[in-house]
Amino acid sequence: MTLNVNNVPRTMTVDARVTLLDALREHLQLTGTKKGCDHGQCGACTVLVNGRRINSCLTLAVMHCDDAIVTIEGVGSPDDLHPLQAAFIEADGFQCGYCTPGQICSALGMLNEVDAGWPSHVSEEVVDQPTLSRGEIQERMSGNICRCAAYPRIVQAIATYADAREGEAA
Ligand code: FES
Ligand code: FES
Repeated sequence: MTLNVNNVPRTMTVDARVTLLDALREHLQLTGTKKGCDHGQCGACTVLVNGRRINSCLTLAVMHCDDAIVTIEGVGSPDDLHPLQAAFIEADGFQCGYCTPGQICSALGMLNEVDAGWPSHVSEEVVDQPTLSRGEIQERMSGNICRCAAYPRIVQAIATYADAREGEAA
């Protein structure tokens, strides 16, 4: 199969039962995406598929031959950090860093959801454009577990990036 990962076509021969997570890590050596639970419970394996965040451990690679897949390697690089990555460093939004690629991919997908007007469980109005309060960020990021419990600084990093983005748009 050929997968479009970070704008590059990548061809590999794999069993049809291989998950997207294992295809990325074991066959394409894109190990930035992490395996935490392999059961859809921790969010460490979050990648973007056509701009939407998904748990790559819960989907088969073969299902994504026509999709645009973005992993943390496609978000930014050490020499060219994405502003959200820079915000995580600035806010000290991690300890061991194992959950961080998933947190960052998830946050980017989450912001796409906010832009599209999707309400969350804590949104007071379901028809209004959501405002990104700390509570909204916490709820919307609740699928990404951090065993180091760096949550306050993760939320701070995302809020800083979201505010800067809004400022640019204004
Ligand atoms: Fe996929 Fe935990 S490894 S959700
Ligand atoms: Fe260690 Fe989140 S920084 S699990």
